[in-house]
Amino acid sequence: MNIPIKNAEGIARMREAGAIAATVLENLKPLVRPGITTQDLEEAGRDWIARLGARSADFGYQIGSRRYPAHTCISVNEEVVHGIPSFRRVLRDGDIVSLDITIVYNGYIGDNAVTLPVGTITPPIEKLVRVTREALDLGIAQALVGNRIGDISAAVQAHVESHGFSVVRDMVGHGVGTKMHEPPEVPNFGRRGTGDRIKPGMTLAIEPMVNLGGYKTKTLADGWTVVTADGSPSAHFEHTVLTTDTGPEILTLPRRSA
Ligand code: MF3
Ligand code: CO
Ligand code: CO
Repeated sequence: MNIPIKNAEGIARMREAGAIAATVLENLKPLVRPGITTQDLEEAGRDWIARLGARSADFGYQIGSRRYPAHTCISVNEEVVHGIPSFRRVLRDGDIVSLDITIVYNGYIGDNAVTLPVGTITPPIEKLVRVTREALDLGIAQALVGNRIGDISAAVQAHVESHGFSVVRDMVGHGVGTKMHEPPEVPNFGRRGTGDRIKPGMTLAIEPMVNLGGYKTKTLADGWTVVTADGSPSAHFEHTVLTTDTGPEILTLPRRSA
């Protein structure tokens, strides 16, 4: 499949969408603490998205016959991605929680995620979170014109596995633009020098999903929540990145403090 190349207008709109997605996430971070429910975070996210004049790209997102029922994805501990917020899910000291925010503004999409500690977490889980964040940075650093998608994948995988963790294979990063998921796929595993050639004007959602235990996952009966097969904790970080002749530009950085 052909990878969409954004023109100047597309790039300008992707910058706006990215900044909004990042600003929503930035405003949710300080709310994370023991005692809050994932539904509280959902409602705050929904309200920030509206306040910034955007829409959730998640709400009603269809896979097969299912429509995603919330405005945010919030995944706790062994939940890898696509956790559905719930008033029954209370965050506890020692948990980790991933907040994944995907918004549409002027027809263009920004997609970003972070994993945060709730209170005090154990050293191995702290390391899992740190290594996953570093893997994202190392992947982004490979999003260079002239490189191949596999160079991103290989950099992420090498870092994660060198620390004894595993990369999820069942879900991958992706191109992002007027649709949430565009070509190319951006796996978190693979070989250097393989895959599509990176050109200027590509917008990529790079998103390592890293498990403390094995790489296998399964989907819960709710049809959405992806969890580790072995119940081990999982971390996830994501940025939307524009490729340019002068290097990767991270689009999901907050523009203003709100
Ligand atoms: N934010 C996710 C991604 O990184 C996708 C959300 S799936 C939805 O690709 F069902 F919640 F919409
Ligand atoms: Co996302
Ligand atoms: Co994504």
